[in-house]
This record gives sequence, structure tokens and C-alpha cells, in this order.
Amino acid sequence: MDSGTDSLYLAFAEREARGNSATYQELAERAAGDAELLGLLDGLPAAKRQPNLLFGAVRHLGGPVTAGWPAFRDWTAARWDEVSATMLERRTQTNEAGRCATLLPLLASLPQPLALIEVGASAGLCLYPDRYRYRYLPAGRAAGEPGEPVHEFGAEGSPVTLDCAVSGPVPMLDSLRERLPEVVWRAGIDLNPLDVRAEEDMRWLESLVWPEQTHRLERLRGAVRIARAEPPLLVRGDLNATVRELVAQAPAGATPVVFHSAVLAYLPPEAREEFAATMRELPGHWISNEAVSVLPTVAERLPHPAPAGSGLFALALDERPVAFTGPHGQSLDWFAGA
Ligand SMILES: C[S@@+](CC[C@H](N)C(=O)[O-])C[C@H]1O[C@@H](n2cnc3c(N)ncnc32)[C@H](O)[C@@H]1O
Repeated sequence: MDSGTDSLYLAFAEREARGNSATYQELAERAAGDAELLGLLDGLPAAKRQPNLLFGAVRHLGGPVTAGWPAFRDWTAARWDEVSATMLERRTQTNEAGRCATLLPLLASLPQPLALIEVGASAGLCLYPDRYRYRYLPAGRAAGEPGEPVHEFGAEGSPVTLDCAVSGPVPMLDSLRERLPEVVWRAGIDLNPLDVRAEEDMRWLESLVWPEQTHRLERLRGAVRIARAEPPLLVRGDLNATVRELVAQAPAGATPVVFHSAVLAYLPPEAREEFAATMRELPGHWISNEAVSVLPTVAERLPHPAPAGSGLFALALDERPVAFTGPHGQSLDWFAGA
């Protein structure tokens, strides 16, 4: 029976790696046609066969991911015991502080101060939106391309600057220059929280950054330095089992804001619905930033579909969509009238 692992790798090559990582595009395409490697992958549970997990595990173990397909393939097959053990032990937990650039205008529009609660927090690097610098660029401009930003502001002396190309009537950008959101409490939940003080955990996060994306690696290292100075409260557990308890711990006088990005896709639809029902009951606000089809109530209220194959996320406040966002926080396209 066809397990579909070849299609999984081809889809990854086409939809995720193309244009972002020529290295991973090639490895994924070649893996999809390699019967022996597919057979090894099919020995793992379905949820553990993902390309990102395989490539991250090989990098973590010091294997060759940038030396071409034959080197990667031979090394991986020869060290399959170690590679598969790492894939079984670890998860794809990419923690992308860049997503704070898309959350910031919404956070600034809520009653201050804020108590932030992130579900699916990984190491909690998105819990520090008040500690980064921001450069909002004209639509279509990528980070590093020449030209002035439209808006630039943020925490003085921060080692992390987040670039985000914006379009549409993004709110609060003028007032953010004067004042960032005031965060008085930060807490997170994860099935497997990563500890910014633990070298091995941070090495795993680095292994998950794609080879060509050196700017993301620098950003990660800067954000880890910030979080290490004041590590967040991270609770181990399933988000449905723990979110109520954590919201109840938020300090009085602060607005509780539960948020998540790139998390709910990992849950089956019933668990997503359970979470949505809980969020409708809890005090405060709920910000979701997920692939467009992940939350049906958000998807059905979108003013127009996302461009086909764009991989954009839908950003929503209390289930009302406000913008499409780049999956790593690289763009923010605000909807007219949102
Ligand atoms: C792709 S990472 C995203 C991390 C972070 N939200 C960000 O945007 O950088 C997804 C995280 O969700 C966590 N996760 C997945 N399912 C979960 C669940 N049911 N309860 C809690 N955390 C979960 C994973 O362990 C992982 O750390």
C-alpha cells in the first residue's frame, strides 16, 4: 500500500522549500524517489515522517545536509538508528520570534497592560514582543533589500530586529513609535517546552532553521539571549488540558491575551474545536495566527481567499480575521475595514 510519504516529501519540496531553501528542495525531491529511504521513514509512525523533522535530526547529529544528495542519503541510511531515535524523541518546534512583527499591532490595540499566554510556545520566544525592534517595510520588499522602512521603532539596544513588509491599513503603527505594548506577565504551554537555558534544546532549535536562512539563525540567537535574561513561565502539557488554569493565574488588572501561531494544525479537528469553545468562554482576548484553513470560523469570515499556494496564515482577533501574514512573520497584509 502507498504510504504517501513520497507525496509528503514532494509537497514539501514544492510548497515549502521552493524559493526558501534550494538545499531542502533538492533533498526532499530526491528522498521522494528513493525507495530505501522511504522504506526507513515508513518504519516510523506517520506523524514522525516529516521532512523538517528528518532534516533537523540529521543536522542535529552533525550529518551533511548541504553537501548534496548522495552524501546526505548515504550518511542518513548508515546512521538510521541514531537518526530515527532523534526523530522519535524530538518534535518540529521551530520557534520564530519574527512572528511578533505580525502580532504587535493587534497587541497594541488591546487594553494595556497585557498578560500574555502563548499555547504551543516552544521555547517562548514569541512572548517578548516588547523586547524586539521592528522595521515595517513597503509591501513586497524582503528583509535585506535596499530602501528605507516605512516605520522603525522598538526596544532600545535590542539584539533582534524584525523586518516585516506591510500592506493595507495596519493599525497602531504611528503610536507604536511612542509606546510598545506593556507586558506584565508572560507564560506559555507546550507538550514539550524547550528551555532557553539548556544548550541541547537550543541546539535543536538551531537545527530546525533551514540552511540558507542565516538571518533567521541570527534572530534566533538574539531572541534566546533576551529570553535567557528573564526566562518565561512555561508549563508542560496539552493546551486543552492547561489553558484555563494558566489564564486563571494571570495577574488582576492586566488583559489576558491567549495567542498561538503555527500550532493548531498539529491538533485533530475535534481538539481544535474544543480549544475554540474554551476560548469563547475565557476572559480576555484570543489571537490566532494559523494556516488559513485551520480554524473554520476564521476561514469562513475571510474577506477574500489567500493567493493559491502562498502558504499565508490568517491572523484573527477573537475569530475575526484581520490580515494575512507571512508564515515566519515576514509580511502583514491588513484587510480593508478590519
Ligand atoms: C511549530 S511550533 C511553533 C512555536 C511558536 N508558536 C512559534 O510561533 O514560534 C509548534 C509548537 O506547538 C507545540 N504543540 C503542538 N501540539 C500541542 C498541544 N496539543 N499542546 C501544547 N503544545 C502543542 C509543539 O510542541 C511545538 O512546540
